[in-house]
Formats: sequence, structure tokens, C-alpha cells
Amino acid sequence: MSRRTYPNFILKEIFEIPEVLEKICRETFEFSGKVRSLLRGARRVIFVGCGTSYHAGMLGQIFFEELAGIPTLNFIASEFNSREPIFQKGDLVVVISQSGETAETLVSMKLARENKLPILAVVNNSKSSMAKRADVFIDTAAGKETAVAATKSFMAQMAAIFRMAIFLGEQRRKITFQTKARLEQAFSKLPDGAREILSQSGVVKRMVLKYQKRRQFFFVGRKLNYPIAFEGAMKLKETSYLHGEGVATGELRHGPMAMVDRNLLLIFLIPKDSVYEKNLSVLREARKNGGQVVAIATEGDRVVKRYASEVIYIPKTLEVLSPFLTVIPLQLLAYFSAEVRGYNVDKPRNLAKWVTTE
Ligand code: M6R
Repeated sequence: MSRRTYPNFILKEIFEIPEVLEKICRETFEFSGKVRSLLRGARRVIFVGCGTSYHAGMLGQIFFEELAGIPTLNFIASEFNSREPIFQKGDLVVVISQSGETAETLVSMKLARENKLPILAVVNNSKSSMAKRADVFIDTAAGKETAVAATKSFMAQMAAIFRMAIFLGEQRRKITFQTKARLEQAFSKLPDGAREILSQSGVVKRMVLKYQKRRQFFFVGRKLNYPIAFEGAMKLKETSYLHGEGVATGELRHGPMAMVDRNLLLIFLIPKDSVYEKNLSVLREARKNGGQVVAIATEGDRVVKRYASEVIYIPKTLEVLSPFLTVIPLQLLAYFSAEVRGYNVDKPRNLAKWVTTE
């Protein structure tokens, strides 16, 4: 797709998401022998990354624990290497990075090496330092990402981690062959789902224009959508210089609810899933307290419409796959928020595409 079709790289990269997902489906769900053997040998997995890649690790922790039944930790790289983590036999360190060059993640690899731990790198650049220094790497193959804000590469990271989780799940007999096939089948429908959401980008833009005066945003999500809440908040901060905060839905009542009034906009991730009823109860309370709520919900959900000020619908999918779809409206929201303010959305102020100093 030519850059000239789009006003900037970030929009092009968001609109490339369906192709990225399609490519992942086409190129089968098989891993190389070395990747398979490292994964099989793991007794515990430790994800390490920064920024968006850390958010991919947050989701990775849930995927690995729920689909593969393997104990998993997730670290911000700069915290991992500033502390003295306790390692144990059978630990596998999985570093996640779009660039494969981020300073803190490279230092974390050094720490893992000193402790003789095997390292698997999930990177979007097969020639990067991380790809070279790891025992083995998985190329997320999202294609070159130029905009500073990561969008399609996050999608590809989630996909790689999901594939690792279902591979390990079957190996460890946490899921059956049939379940794995069902998950793969549902995954193959994601490109169409993503296309459907992108075709409604005008709805997100209208919503952004409607709430243009707001400067405080809570991104609220539970379980699989908790990492996505964090990612949505960071995307807004980095593109639009607005205050976005990721909040676990269940935590709202433990403090942040006090901030809720008509000046705060809550972006509520509430797909129809196993935690829907609990989420709805918190959403209703936020609304009662005077909060304006934009819900990201599953198509056909009429109930949520009664309580939210606006609803952005995503197509139906399996619960475990909902993050692949809920994140897209949040990326569009960040994009349009920057665009309507006239900011350089590809190159936000004070930021670099990758960080080379600790
Ligand atoms: O290249 P990496 O994935 O290692 O980069 C990590 C972060 O610097 C990066 O994800 C950053 O947070 C992005 N600007 C997010 O959009």
C-alpha cells in the first residue's frame, strides 16, 4: 500500500492491520525446531519489554497462563534490570521488541545471559541486535513501521505470543488439538473483523470531535482487555499529549472513581465475555456518578447502549481474541485526537522510534 494514499504513516500502518493478520494466518502456525524446543523446555516464562512491547507481555502473561497453564511473569525491562529478580531452573526469558534495539531490553538480555537463562526474542527486525543476541528469535513480520507510535507491530506481537501460547498449550495438554484448531479457525476471521472496524473509522472521528474539549481520559478494561486499556491510554498520551490513564475495571471503585465527573471521559472496554456482567455494573456506577462513557462493545449488545453515551461496536469473536479487535478503535481514537489538533502524528514531540540510552 502506497504512503501517498494516506496523509501519514500511522494511518497507513493502522490500515495495514488486516493484511498483517492475513499474512500471519497464511504463513501457518508452525515454529522452527529451535523455537519449539526452547518453549517445550520452559517451566516458567518471563516476558520483558518496554512501552507497547511491555503491554504485549501483559497480554502474553494471560495467554500463557490460561492457554498453556505455565507460570508466567511480565517485566518492564528497565525494572527487570534495575532489580534483582529471582530466577529458577527452567526459566525462559522472552524479550519483546518492535525494533530489537531498545537499550533497556538489551541490558535485560545481558542480565539473563549472566544468569545462564535461555532467551527467545520476539522482534520485528530479523537483523536487529536482539535477533542476533538471542538463542532464537521469532520475526513478527509486520513490515517496516515508520510512525513512532506502534500500531500494526503491536498486533503482530500479540499474534506471535498467542501462537506461542497455543503451541505450548497443546504440548502441555492444557488444550486439546480440537480446541487449538478452533482457536486457529477463529483467528483466521480476525482480518475481516479488523476490516469491519476500520470501515467505521468515521464513527471514531465523530466521537473524537464531539469530545474534543476533554483533556482527561480513563481507559478501563478487565482481564484480557486490561492490557489493552494501558495500550489505549499510552497511544493517546504519545500522539495527542492528553492525559490518558489505564485502569483495571475492578479498581475504579478503589480510588479512581472519585475523579469521575462530567469533565472525565471513560473509554470502557466491555466486549461480551466472561467478565461482562461485572464490567456492566461498574460502567453503570460510573455513569450514575456523572461520567461520560464511550463503550467499546460487541455488535448486537443493546444493553450497553442504555448506559453509555456512545458505543463503538466490534464484531463477535472468541473471548481470548477480543484484544485483537478492541485495540483498533483505540488506535484510531489516538490518531484522530492528534489529527484534529494538527499535531505531527508520525513524530510526536520528545519521542524517538526507539530508545538507545538507559
Ligand atoms: O522497539 P521496542 O518495541 O523495543 O520499543 C519499545 C517502546 O519504546 C515502544 O513500544 C514505545 O512505547 C512506542 N512508541 C509505543 O507506541
